[in-house]
Amino acid sequence: ARIYVPRDSSALSLGAEKVAKAIAEHAARQNLAVEIIRNGSRGMFWLEPLVEVETPAGRIAYGPVDLADVPSLFAADFINGGAHALKLGVTDELPWLKQQERLTFARVGITDPVSLTDYLAHDGYRGLQNALALQPAEIVQQVTDSGLRGRGGAAFPTGIKWKTVHDCKADQKYIVCNADEGDSGTYSDRMIMEGDPFVLIEGMTIAALAVGATQGYIYLRSEYPHALAVLNEAIQHAREKHYLGPNILGSGHAFELEVRRAAGAYVCGEETSLLESLEGKRGLVRFKPPLPAIEGLFGKPTVVNNVISFASVPIILDKGGAFYRDYGMGRSRGTLPIQLAGNIKHGGLVEKAFGVTLRQLLYDFGGGSATGRPIRAVQVGGPLGAYLPESQFDTPLDYEEFSKLWAVLGHGGIVAFDDTVDMAKMARYAFEFCAIESCGKCTPCRIGSTRGVEVMDKIMQGRDHAQNIALVRDLSDTMLNGSLCALGGMTPYPVLSAINHFPEDFGLNKKAQA
Ligand code: NAI
Ligand code: SF4
Repeated sequence: ARIYVPRDSSALSLGAEKVAKAIAEHAARQNLAVEIIRNGSRGMFWLEPLVEVETPAGRIAYGPVDLADVPSLFAADFINGGAHALKLGVTDELPWLKQQERLTFARVGITDPVSLTDYLAHDGYRGLQNALALQPAEIVQQVTDSGLRGRGGAAFPTGIKWKTVHDCKADQKYIVCNADEGDSGTYSDRMIMEGDPFVLIEGMTIAALAVGATQGYIYLRSEYPHALAVLNEAIQHAREKHYLGPNILGSGHAFELEVRRAAGAYVCGEETSLLESLEGKRGLVRFKPPLPAIEGLFGKPTVVNNVISFASVPIILDKGGAFYRDYGMGRSRGTLPIQLAGNIKHGGLVEKAFGVTLRQLLYDFGGGSATGRPIRAVQVGGPLGAYLPESQFDTPLDYEEFSKLWAVLGHGGIVAFDDTVDMAKMARYAFEFCAIESCGKCTPCRIGSTRGVEVMDKIMQGRDHAQNIALVRDLSDTMLNGSLCALGGMTPYPVLSAINHFPEDFGLNKKAQA
């Protein structure tokens, strides 16, 4: 029998390693032939460790499995899909998964992440095969046609970025993957790297062919040791089979790939400080222009994309730009891996076409708050994203619709708060976060964030109220318009959205503010 026990960090943190070991020992004792596959996570974190068994009816899921459940699972003949209190049914039929559109995450939780054979058996490397038969400009065109926009958060059209690098003349070009996933409540990059590393490697290889780059780097968040191990193993397998190296699949194209560990600074997720850090320097933000696409790593034209952007490319090259473009709404094409976190009953990964509403995500998928109290606010797009009140929960996930509300989708992280949240504390926290993480290069961010904390303290103590609120607005205006990068430039989003939508938490009369 084939048994799947995830090796994803979420499952490991809940005891998956011990569960896998206990299943192996139990099977050995009973002389049962079982093969344990350490897959990625299906993204239903409240059910981790989610153990699946392969049966003629499909994979059957059991979860959350505790070490103490293993004997009774065997007693119930779970390896043949036997009845048990933890039995959830056919995994693919679970509503959480069935209602998703998994394009980028198609293989996560299904394949063995470090098995190239498994990747190939599940349509892996078909995108690269197609790309090898195209001219570089044709690959760029496919990506442009797909409508893919940068999934790191800024939503810049990926095809246009690649075209800029493609059109540069240079003796050396680079592909850099931003895997410094620093946003609170986000983990989609991690899940891809731990659950399907080959899709990222394939996406970066296609990018290399498209722009004429021969060297790639994955700048990986140092807090992701499991992703590091999986990526390095996958890269080694890809190299052995010539999917990476000096002569990719006999095409004459060369592409080498290395993982570099980041040092733990939030600002190194900003692309120019990331490049400084990769070059071995302190992670200070660079002035733009020049754009990294023109003068990036070591001054050479460089594609810098987020993990999910690269991981979306193989399916585009496999099925064509038009296939991908068919999903979504408006100018937000394709799918977004959404991460539900915070005070939510069912946290985890939901990949949906753009257009799904916050309310559907929070209630149909998330099941409401974990505490059972009303959800009062959600922060979308990381610690620098705006807070949205209940009246905005029907907003569809779409870059432009969010921007109309002065909010951002960012990297697709959604953090929920119930009605016990103090929004003044959250506004103070945004300034504090900025003060801690500021690289210090520009004044509005370096000084403004610290002054922001001080003024928020006065507001929370009820001192010179109206005057201090006006001061926060003024300070926010300066940070918004005068900061060199998004860290200082976006800190006003959580601050002002908290004041505007939840004035009562700042000692303001709701009606007077509106
Ligand atoms: P940006 O808007 O300055 O740039 C977006 C991208 O487009 C960059 O790669 C830039 O080099 C490129 N670009 C712009 N014009 C171009 C052109 N003409 N040709 C080629 N390339 C061009 O935004 P930035 O500062 O890179 O990112 C800010 C975003 O990052 C925020 O919106 C936020 O949501 C997100 N973010 C994500 C985090 C995460 O953990 N994923 C953490 C913090 C922020
Ligand atoms: Fe550095 Fe902050 Fe200025 Fe960005 S906004 S360059 S993090 S000081």
